[in-house]
Amino acid sequence: MFHVVDTTIFDRPLLDDLCELTTLVRTVAKSPEGARQLQQLASTKRAMLYFTQPSTRTFLSMNNACHVLGIRTSEIRNASVSSEVKGETFEDSIRTFSSYVDLIVMRTPDSGYAARAAALMGSIPRPVPIVNAGSGKDQHPTQALLDIYTLERSFEDSGGIDGKIIGMMGDLKRGRTVRSLSRLMRHYEGVRVVFIAPDKFEMEPDIKAFMAEHGIPFVETGRLHETLPTLDAIYVTRIQFEHDVDNESSGVNLAPFTIGTHELGLLKKTAVIMHPLPRGPEIAVAVDQDPRAMYWRQERNGMWMRVALIAKIFDLDQEIRELASHIS
Ligand code: CP
Repeated sequence: MFHVVDTTIFDRPLLDDLCELTTLVRTVAKSPEGARQLQQLASTKRAMLYFTQPSTRTFLSMNNACHVLGIRTSEIRNASVSSEVKGETFEDSIRTFSSYVDLIVMRTPDSGYAARAAALMGSIPRPVPIVNAGSGKDQHPTQALLDIYTLERSFEDSGGIDGKIIGMMGDLKRGRTVRSLSRLMRHYEGVRVVFIAPDKFEMEPDIKAFMAEHGIPFVETGRLHETLPTLDAIYVTRIQFEHDVDNESSGVNLAPFTIGTHELGLLKKTAVIMHPLPRGPEIAVAVDQDPRAMYWRQERNGMWMRVALIAKIFDLDQEIRELASHIS
């Protein structure tokens, strides 16, 4: 594994491997000695976090995932404080970052930039891996990984993700998390997907075509209450108003696409509620107390999955398995 630009690099064995590695890392990290040993694994490496679009979870979990492995980090979180304001091109900026670090993790307001950075690496003498930490409305591959891990852990006593019915709700049109997660569903047997969205915020045709092409059954509906009792997981997303071009978010009636205490009564006892966060009004705070609410664990899983991913990029998985074998 080198660049992580989109979900196409993942197949089922790699997804299973990353999930296993994530669990091993968190097991090793539980003891102070294990945590110290993890910090030795990549202590000569440096990473650049280049986030020109706001982020809390992805930035902090990537930063801390690097630190778990002893990787030192530097950051630019606003293009206005980089030499891009002096007219330096995106490509020259990325090449400059690569002069100083061994890994570039990047988030951009528009799609395509991580792919451009990865393409650039193919033409310079010291290429470093590029990890896409969210690209416009299009892709959020590391979020999809932590979502897969959370689903697999949630269903570890009932056969994992295979055979489950997964609902995805909210602004599916502009939600990069659901777009990336939908693509990964092709690697799970017997999964069915239900897209639940307000009018004008339905899943885009490219993802539906992808699902049809890969034989992933899906249906679309605007009726949450009828759908909830059938679901094993409901993945809720917020309205992505930052992508508005004509204030279109202001007209949406979100009430029928909200999880509150009434909706909890319609959901299976074994179902889970997920959300990439941050949340808006689409999940009531009261839902946090319900054992099926998985989103806070999901965001913590994100750090451990990102440790596993970075370890895999730097070919450290055998060392982690070795450390884990001394614990068990
Ligand atoms: N889920 C997610 O990407 O959150 P942030 O925007 O806070 O990074």
